[in-house]
Amino acid sequence: MKAILLAGGRGTRLRPLTVHTPKPIVPILNRPFLYYQIDLLKQVPEIDEVILSLNYQPRRIEEIFGEGEGLGIRLRYVVEPMPLGTGGAIRYAGDSLSESVVVFNGDVLTEVDLAAVLRLHRERKAKATIVLTPVDNPRAYGLVETDARANIKRFLEKPGEDEITCNTINAGIYVLEPDTFDRIPKDTAWSIERSFFPSLIERGETFVAYIYDGYWIDIGTPAKYLQVHRDIMDGRYSAPPFNNSQGPRGSHGSEGSRGAYGSGMHELHGSGLAWISPDARIEHGVELQGPCFIDEGAVIKAGAKILAHSVIGRQTHVEDAAVIDGSIIWPNGWIGPEATLRGSILGRNCHVGRNAVIDSPAVLGDKTVITDYSRI
Ligand code: GDD
Ligand code: MG
Repeated sequence: MKAILLAGGRGTRLRPLTVHTPKPIVPILNRPFLYYQIDLLKQVPEIDEVILSLNYQPRRIEEIFGEGEGLGIRLRYVVEPMPLGTGGAIRYAGDSLSESVVVFNGDVLTEVDLAAVLRLHRERKAKATIVLTPVDNPRAYGLVETDARANIKRFLEKPGEDEITCNTINAGIYVLEPDTFDRIPKDTAWSIERSFFPSLIERGETFVAYIYDGYWIDIGTPAKYLQVHRDIMDGRYSAPPFNNSQGPRGSHGSEGSRGAYGSGMHELHGSGLAWISPDARIEHGVELQGPCFIDEGAVIKAGAKILAHSVIGRQTHVEDAAVIDGSIIWPNGWIGPEATLRGSILGRNCHVGRNAVIDSPAVLGDKTVITDYSRI
């Protein structure tokens, strides 16, 4: 059985982070996002191949996953000649398929039991089964109404304020029957949410919901990107670096490979856990507040404070008396002496001058230079 990961969107809401890093591979802690999804797919032994459906900057994604060696599952890339939308992309990637296929939006992180979703799909002999999840505000999602037998009665993408009738939304995880794909026009941009799903309802076909109220998030905005890190660090989602035996990266392994990381976990006095790579250098007199994450090659100088929910990327230097509070810094950054960062996200190779203050919620693209004493 195959799984298609829709990973071709432009990630506009995460700009400027996605200018050079497509959304499917933005780092979560220190692993490109898609690794987390592939881990979930691997829990279903029946799934033997992942098809990455790409469009925006496909080479960057291919550089990370290569031929898929060491991934533990077969990998195939399908690159669209132009953005085909979610429906067009599924048709383009799934044209030759003949058995049920699992489809995932490439930006959702969840612990849903996929095997149970598949079971429901088969029991109900559905043409399509989609996972629904409850949210506080469905505006930014696809609103889905169901009846008492979990049949889908209405699918409304990005509902207006006055159209909200329930709190269950499309979680972006589907089981589909490829014999329906010929209804999706070939080689034109087409939305699975706006056209295909409503058409199943119009035709009265078996279209079923699997309702899941465990961990689920779409990482596609800066606020959600910060949120997913807080959730992982607070143990609301059990990501690999945090379950002791599996590490985020081997010292010299490919990105996402799992070296031992157990020795990097520290219980801080009364303030939670810090995950510190054995290859990071923390000078005496640094104040650490958990939970926080410090990746390999990072250097934290005396008098600096790394406060809760901060992530210090690979090879990033935090100079003396700088304060990093609830912020995420991608690799190769330099944070000058006495600078302060709060609730912000910094792309790769950012330079923050001495005494600069960056307050939430700033999002700085790769190679941003903030001069000494600036206030953002
Ligand atoms: N290959 C390919 N080609 N992938 C695409 C394209 C395309 O043209 N357009 C979007 N994608 C991918 C994105 O990379 C993303 O992984 C996924 O399809 C969904 O696109 P988003 O742009 O993130 O959509 P959304 O978050 O506004 O809404 C979707 O997700 C919600 C759940 O997070 C919809 O499916 C909603 O119904 C759903 O509730
Ligand atoms: Mg999304």
